[in-house]
Formats: sequence, structure tokens, C-alpha cells
Amino acid sequence: MFFKPIIALMAMVVGFVSAGAVSYPRPSIYNKSAHFSLKVNGTDMYTVSYAGFDYVHLSMDEGYPTEFRIAVTDQKSVDTYYISPRNLSIEATKQGKELVFSLTEAQYLIVKINDEKEFVIMVDPAEVDVPDPSADGVYNVLDYNADDSGKSVTKGIQDAIDAASKKPGSTVYVPPGLYQIGNLLIRNQTSLYLAGGSVLRFTGNPSDYKTLYSKSDIGPGTWWIQTEFGSTDIKVYGRGTIDGNGYNTRKNKFMADLLVPVGTKNFECDGIIVRDSSFWAVTPIQVHDALLTNLKILDRHDVTQNDGVDVVESQRVTVRRAIAIANDDSFSAKTWPYKVGTTVPYPYSPKPQYDILFDNCIAWTTCFGYKIGQGVWEVQDNVTFQNSVVYDGGVGIGIHHEFGSETASNITFENIDIEHLHGTPGGFGTWLAVYVQDSHEGVGPVTDVTIKNIRARQKGARNAFIQGHNESSIVSGVTISDVYMYENTTAATTLEEMTAYNTTWSKDIKIINS
Ligand SMILES: *[C@@H]1O[C@H](CO)[C@@H](O)[C@H](O)[C@H]1NC(C)=O
Ligand SMILES: *[C@@H]1O[C@H](CO)[C@@H](O)[C@H](O)[C@H]1NC(C)=O
Ligand SMILES: *[C@@H]1O[C@H](CO)[C@@H](O)[C@H](O)[C@H]1NC(C)=O
Ligand SMILES: *[C@@H]1O[C@H](CO)[C@@H](O)[C@H](O)[C@H]1NC(C)=O
Ligand SMILES: *[C@@H]1O[C@H](CO)[C@@H](O)[C@H](O)[C@H]1NC(C)=O
Ligand SMILES: *[C@@H]1O[C@H](CO)[C@@H](O)[C@H](O)[C@H]1NC(C)=O
Ligand SMILES: *[C@@H]1O[C@H](CO)[C@@H](O)[C@H](O)[C@H]1NC(C)=O
Ligand SMILES: *[C@@H]1O[C@H](CO)[C@@H](O)[C@H](O)[C@H]1NC(C)=O
Ligand SMILES: *[C@@H]1O[C@H](CO)[C@@H](O)[C@H](O)[C@H]1NC(C)=O
Repeated sequence: MFFKPIIALMAMVVGFVSAGAVSYPRPSIYNKSAHFSLKVNGTDMYTVSYAGFDYVHLSMDEGYPTEFRIAVTDQKSVDTYYISPRNLSIEATKQGKELVFSLTEAQYLIVKINDEKEFVIMVDPAEVDVPDPSADGVYNVLDYNADDSGKSVTKGIQDAIDAASKKPGSTVYVPPGLYQIGNLLIRNQTSLYLAGGSVLRFTGNPSDYKTLYSKSDIGPGTWWIQTEFGSTDIKVYGRGTIDGNGYNTRKNKFMADLLVPVGTKNFECDGIIVRDSSFWAVTPIQVHDALLTNLKILDRHDVTQNDGVDVVESQRVTVRRAIAIANDDSFSAKTWPYKVGTTVPYPYSPKPQYDILFDNCIAWTTCFGYKIGQGVWEVQDNVTFQNSVVYDGGVGIGIHHEFGSETASNITFENIDIEHLHGTPGGFGTWLAVYVQDSHEGVGPVTDVTIKNIRARQKGARNAFIQGHNESSIVSGVTISDVYMYENTTAATTLEEMTAYNTTWSKDIKIINS
């Protein structure tokens, strides 16, 4: 049996349009927020209490204004508020303890009220193609004795995947519940569907996992949920949660990448929450053709090296409509050396990375919001970050060429709103860092960079960099247009106005405002 999510049907005219907001049952291991409640069109949503921020996840039908009513449950009134993405210009009204606004489209929002922690509201579009657990070709994990109570470490999900893989094109269905699992291998041409209210949980106990690699500064680690090498057409989707239990895992001197599409083609990921990673959370590695959408990564700010999405040595990967909250980089693109540390389990020799697109993303980090690097051990060409937001970060956007001697080329940052910056990760702390750093592991060139329509509402703790290292590692061909510093309505016309004073070993920097 699977229980139905609460469906709020409001303003229903009999025989007319029924619109809905769907709140997913709060998994038993999470508590509700002690600070906020949320009503959507009058119906209470399941909030979740978390470290550093609280959150709520729902899906809604789009196209009609839907009322969002947040209450601060532990304070007398809403005095000040801030809603990110700021550029959405959401008009809200304060009504005593409540903040009220309306959304017509699904959005990911970060809301700050008074001095409360942030409240992250993640609204997805209504789910389409939900598998019917009783249909042919759908393998319900409960039929494979999966323990949905979280009391034991269960093999049932892997057993269901193994069975499903015998019939290519099948789907494994995970109903709401708590599943503690070891390493999971998603097989060729098999999909994994996580229903809203389901949680796959990492135990945090190293002995439950295969050690696949070791990183000198952290220790041994694993790929928790990975695709089979040489596979095609794998999809991970639904509205469920992959919970890395990362804070505890790192206390146990272990780490894990949580969702690892690796050595696979035509991969899709849609709609899931990935939280509390103990290392890089979602890492397409040596993947060809992938689409990751409606992805919500909720890492803790007090666990280090827990990047959101790292695309590694892959081609034609698109990340669209995603939020990544992390201590380390929210969204980055990297290439690495052969069989060293974390690359030991990679299936193939190093691959160049090209045609990577990050579109419509939200970053909240203490490191880089959107970044190439630090590894440029193989070529990285045609990587674009666009239509995106940095709620807060150490560095807004950048290319940090620190490891490897290859070229980063045709890199574009376009339509990016940098709302807040703080701190100086790795000595930086700026809205823009294009920088070749010599750490005795190679230096290399950066060519053809486009920086277009960027708003830097803050400049960061330090000034901007567009700087190479020497003759063999020049930053060349940087075209900058429409960079708006602070709240200016006219674009900056000089590098100095953009605080980019450090420009040694760079050439052909052009500012062309529209
Ligand atoms: C909320 O209510 C309005 C009418 O009052 C309706 O148009 C809209 O579709 C509803 N939204 C949802 C998600 O139910
Ligand atoms: C939930 O609340 C209970 C009671 O306050 C507490 O013991 C428990 O640690 C909390 N769990 C989480 C995950 O915050
Ligand atoms: C996966 O299936 C495709 C299509 O049948 C096939 O080409 C490929 O070799 C299979 N991969 C593995 C690892 O079995
Ligand atoms: C660059 O990558 C994008 C996908 O992100 C692709 O659509 C485009 O064709 C690529 N450009 C070139 C010149 O290959
Ligand atoms: C950059 O993109 C252009 C246009 O697609 C292409 O001709 C050029 O080879 C790329 N640069 C590098 C270094 O790959
Ligand atoms: C902010 O929104 C306005 C209006 O939609 C748009 O023109 C502008 O490009 C956006 N700015 C950024 C940096 O995305
Ligand atoms: C540039 O710097 C690197 C690293 O310090 C060095 O190995 C290389 O020889 C230098 N290249 C030139 C042309 O000076
Ligand atoms: C506009 O930008 C310049 C730097 O280019 C800065 O000195 C000034 O404070 C900005 N003005 C506003 C209103 O933000
Ligand atoms: C950046 O420029 C300033 C001023 O010219 C200089 O003092 C500083 O050393 C430069 N920083 C780096 C890392 O090159």
C-alpha cells in the first residue's frame, strides 16, 4: 500500500477546472519547522526543520495565481523580509505574523524574515508521468521485501533494480517510507522512481559501504548511488529525497558522493531532493548526454567539500532549474587526473569536457556560486552558466584554473544576478574571479570568456580578478557587456568600475555595452 499525498483542491467549481497544490508527507525522521508554517491556498504544507535553514517542498499547477501565506510561528510579527530571487520582484504584504504573496509559476525561493534562519520554499510544477506501482514493468520495492521503516539496512531496493533490469525499460517504484540502504547500483536501461515522502538514507556507518577511493584530507569514501558503467537510458525521478546523512558520516571519518551518474549515456534526473551530502553531492562523471531538472540540493553549511552539482569530464550535460545550497561550490565543472584519489574508480581514462549548460539555477554557498575548476587537467570547452542567481556566496562567478595544464575555452556567464557576497574562500571573495593560480600542479590558458548581463549587488570582500599566471597561461579574449555594479541602472564602462584591478597576464579584454 502507498498512501496518497494530501491533495489540496481549492476554489473548485464543480465540473470546472480543478487546480492543486501537493504537499508530500514529512518523513518520520524529520521534524517540522519550529519557526515557520506555510499555507498554500489555505492548506498547510509539511515544513521541515533543518540545520542553518528550514524548508518546504510542494508541487503546484501553474498558470493561476496561488496564495502563499508564511507565518513566523515563534515571533510576534513580520517586521522585515527579503525574498530571493530578488529579480522576480515578488510583491508581498505583511499581515501580523504572516507574509503573503502570490505565485503563478512554480519557483524556488529563499525567504528571510526578521532575524530568523532562512526558509527555503521549493515549488515544483505538478508531476507528470507518475508510474502506477501496479502496472506492468513497474517493480514496487515492497514486493522485494524492502524495509520501509528505516529499522534495518535493506537490500530490497537493489533486489528490485536487479529484477527490473532483466526487462530493459522498467521502472523501480519506491513508495513513501524510510529506507536505509548501502551502495546502490542502478542498472542499464532501468529507472528509479522515488515517490514524494520516500527517503533513501545513508547510514553513516562506513562498514555498510564499499570504499572506492580515498582523499588525503578527509579519508575513505564511496559513490553511494551510481549508474552501471557502460549503461544507457537511466532515469532517477519523482519527488522523494536522497539523504546523505553527511554531518554524521563525516564525524565517522567517511564520505560519499550521493548521486553519481557515471560512465553512462542519455541519463535523466528530475524532481528529487538531495540533502546533507558528506562530499560532492551530484556528480555526472564521464557522462554523455544528460539532463538534470527540478533538482534541489540541500547540503549543510557546516559540512565542508559538499559541492552541489559537479559536472566532471562529461559532454552535453544540461542542469536546468536547480537549487544547490552547500558550504562548498554550488555548481561547477571540473576535469581531473587519471587514477588519483577520488578519480580512482572512474571507468575511463580522462575525458575532455564540453557542451555543458547550467540554466535557471540558484546558488547559496560559502565558496563559488558558478565555477570552472579548480581542475582543468583536460580541456573544458563550451561551458555556459545562464539565467541564474547567487543568493549568497564567497565568489559569485569564476574560472579558477588551479590544477592541470589544459585550456578552459568558450566559457560564458550570462544573465546572472549576484545578490549577496561574504567571506574570502581560498583567499578570494569577489563577484568575479577569472584566475590562473600556480599551486605547482600545472597552469594553463583561459580563452574566450563571455561575461554578459551580470548584476553584482555587492562586490565581495576583495576586488575582482581577470588574471593569468605567465606567458603559457594567459587569460585572453574576455568580452564583457552589461555588468551592473550595486544597484546602478547604467552598466560599468571600465574595469576599474567593476573592481577588476588585477589583470596581469591577460589580453584582449573588451567592454561592449549594449
Ligand atoms: C489557488 O486558488 C486560485 C483561485 O482562488 C486558483 O486559481 C489556483 O489555481 C489555486 N492554486 C492551486 C495550486 O491550487
Ligand atoms: C526532532 O525533535 C526531537 C524532539 O525535540 C529531537 O529529539 C530530535 O533530535 C529532532 N530530530 C531532528 C532530525 O531534528
Ligand atoms: C545497455 O543497453 C544498451 C542497449 O541495449 C547496450 O548497447 C549496452 O551495451 C548495455 N550496457 C550494459 C552495461 O549492459
Ligand atoms: C555548446 O553547448 C550547447 C549545449 O550546452 C550546445 O547547444 C551548443 O551547440 C554548443 N556549441 C557549439 C559551438 O558546439
Ligand atoms: C571555441 O568555440 C569556437 C566556436 O564554436 C570554436 O571554433 C573553437 O574551436 C572553440 N575554442 C576552443 C579552444 O576549443
Ligand atoms: C532582472 O530582470 C529583468 C527584468 O526581467 C531583466 O531584464 C534582467 O536581465 C534581469 N537581470 C539579471 C541580472 O538577470
Ligand atoms: C609558466 O609557469 C609554469 C608554472 O610555474 C612553468 O612551469 C612554466 O614553465 C611557465 N611558462 C613560461 C613560458 O614561463
Ligand atoms: C555605481 O557603480 C559605481 C562603480 O562603478 C559605484 O561607485 C557607485 O556606488 C554605484 N552607484 C550606485 C547607486 O550603486
Ligand atoms: C592584485 O593587485 C594588487 C594591486 O596591484 C596587488 O597588490 C596584488 O598583489 C595583486 N594580487 C595578486 C594575487 O596578484
